[in-house]
Amino acid sequence: MRFENRCAIVTGAASGMGLLASQMLAEEGAKVYMADINAEALKARAEEICQKGGAAVPAVCDVREWDQIRDTVERAVRESGSIDIVINFAGGFPPRMCKASPEGHYFPTEPLDVIDWGIDVNFRAPMLFARAAMGHMIAQKRGVIINIGSIDGWTGGGVDYAAEKSGITGGLTKALARIGAPHGVRCCAVSPGPVLTRAAMSNMKTALGRAAEPKEIVSLVMYLCSDDAAFVTGTDYLIDGGRLLLNNQ
Ligand SMILES: NC(=O)c1ccc[n+]([C@@H]2O[C@H](COP(=O)([O-])OP(=O)(O)OC[C@H]3O[C@@H](n4cnc5c(N)ncnc54)[C@H](O)[C@@H]3O)[C@@H](O)[C@H]2O)c1
Repeated sequence: MRFENRCAIVTGAASGMGLLASQMLAEEGAKVYMADINAEALKARAEEICQKGGAAVPAVCDVREWDQIRDTVERAVRESGSIDIVINFAGGFPPRMCKASPEGHYFPTEPLDVIDWGIDVNFRAPMLFARAAMGHMIAQKRGVIINIGSIDGWTGGGVDYAAEKSGITGGLTKALARIGAPHGVRCCAVSPGPVLTRAAMSNMKTALGRAAEPKEIVSLVMYLCSDDAAFVTGTDYLIDGGRLLLNNQ
């Protein structure tokens, strides 16, 4: 029960790794505010966690909107008395998430609204969640923020996606770690290689010859959120099955 009496916000919590992180946090005692734009799935998944004895609150939130981000954080603090963990899972490869045409996957012809979606969800939202939560965390002298990047931020896979992911796992994570450290607040990043939240990810090459199970990634996130990682801050953990090694060949 590493997260007993902890209040967490997980974005992108209606599916994939954000959902798994919500389930694992709740299993270990946290009260989890599940933030996602997909209201129907969010309600159903939160109910499932509660039926198993966990504490999960569906907090519908479009992470492109500052007002909704601020309200989610303020609600968690008001109802639970603290905000201890924020994990930014909402996001994805913009042309895929926005269902762009094949030309939309090529940067010079990528539609501007697709680029804007990526900047807003992959980059601006983690920054604004930190803006909303950091003051509370500093005041309570406790807190952890985890930014979820991608191996593409390390290798330059996808121009706008790579820029957004390296931005949140690099400069944002380091800067938050610096302002949080004197107050016991940590910020870390995790950059996964291919993960089987979608079957298509099994086609991506890694040195280990397979994509990750979501639990392999989320277990690292849980460690970083826990007091076991009390000495860890400001660093980005690549967890990629050795895909970067192949990129360097
Ligand atoms: N799956 C992979 O192979 C992989 C690899 C590297 C990095 N990542 C990163 O991990 C994170 C999670 O990936 P996943 O595969 O579990 O994703 P997923 O597609 O299963 O889940 C993403 C969630 O984000 C939500 N979302 C989208 N737009 C939103 C918005 N405006 N406001 C609030 N919620 C919104 C969606 O509804 C969805 O529930 C992403 O940031 C992704 O870039 C994934």
